[in-house]
Amino acid sequence: MVTVPLGSRSYPIYIGKDLLRNAGKYFLRHRIGRSLVIITDSNVARRHLDVFTRSVEAKHYAVRTIILPPGEKLKSIGSIEKIFSQLLRWNIERSATIVALGGGVIGDLAGFVAATYQRGIGFVQVPTTLLAQVDSSVGGKVGINHPLAKNMIGAFYQPAFVLADTSVLRTLPKRELICGLGEVVKYGIILDRKFFEFIERNVGKVLSGDQKILQHVIQRCCELKAYVVEHDEKEQNLRAILNYGHTIGHALEQSGDYGFLKHGEAILYGMIAETHVAFDLKMISLKEKDRIEQLIQKIPIPSLSPLKLKYAGLIAAMKKDKKVKDGSIRMPLPIKIGKVTLPMTITDQSIRHSIEYVKIFGV
Ligand SMILES: NC(=O)c1ccc[n+]([C@@H]2O[C@H](COP(=O)([O-])OP(=O)(O)OC[C@H]3O[C@@H](n4cnc5c(N)ncnc54)[C@H](O)[C@@H]3O)[C@@H](O)[C@H]2O)c1
Repeated sequence: MVTVPLGSRSYPIYIGKDLLRNAGKYFLRHRIGRSLVIITDSNVARRHLDVFTRSVEAKHYAVRTIILPPGEKLKSIGSIEKIFSQLLRWNIERSATIVALGGGVIGDLAGFVAATYQRGIGFVQVPTTLLAQVDSSVGGKVGINHPLAKNMIGAFYQPAFVLADTSVLRTLPKRELICGLGEVVKYGIILDRKFFEFIERNVGKVLSGDQKILQHVIQRCCELKAYVVEHDEKEQNLRAILNYGHTIGHALEQSGDYGFLKHGEAILYGMIAETHVAFDLKMISLKEKDRIEQLIQKIPIPSLSPLKLKYAGLIAAMKKDKKVKDGSIRMPLPIKIGKVTLPMTITDQSIRHSIEYVKIFGV
């Protein structure tokens, strides 16, 4: 278990095997009210909804379920309106609790519903992807996309607890495991050299879904994220280091219209590009940069060549990033494995060099 220490809003992240089967026990332990609304997507519902529902119903919870189509497009204003309408038709009261059963898309969407329905109702995260277990379910960022930019509408809203069941990762497609691994590698580079070395040694085992290794990986990432969130819940300074790889990564993701590269894959390329920015500025040694690249090269991700990357379009996308200040692009940069800076202003020229570099890298 890992605790996210936020005073009276502190909460635990339970990590382990077969937690879904025993979910009811955790709801009772946290004195969650009797009415639950599970929000999930059809892929997760098909595989894991029954086990979860049976376990909470056995503890006499009244359960209603909203099953949505999978995919990033779900994080929209339209989905929010449909969910609110359903909650109102069911007369869901303020004492109810929203349960996000799914990946980061469901967690962000359901969390935003919980934060805003009747000005905030109970919320529990049950993440089912590696990305959600190591990152998105922890720290309280919830929200949706606007057609003009990603993650621009949202709130900070912490759950009562997080239930990260490693067994559910057995049904996760390999490509989704890779996306989660992108965020895992990020934690090593920004905060923990020893953990980076652990990933170097065990990347194959993570990709083959080794439960013991995954459990350690999830535990360590949650500890690192909890540390960051404890010191800067609302991203005034330190929390911005978690955006390493994301400025250029989001622009790459957008250039494929969110269909070609998945979020985690784009972040892996983003980390290569942003490390190159640091190298260009003589902030990181060649040896450290090579070591980061060698680890990322062990992870199978699609080639960038079909994307036909246009420099101007990428820069325009980066200028919509939430770290932009007075029109300047800013990003945290690694200075060695295990240590990054806070976001710094970066010239367009450095970004151009790094995009040229990542294009060749991703051939
Ligand atoms: N809030 C945050 O702090 C934060 C941090 C990082 C990312 N995010 C957000 O997270 C989202 C990406 O999350 P994601 O990668 O989990 O994507 P996702 O939620 O779309 O899940 C990926 C796919 O896996 C399927 N799936 C989920 N669990 C499964 C399981 N156990 N077995 C089989 N299939 C399963 C889903 O149906 C979906 O098709 C993005 O919207 C991103 O912006 C948020």
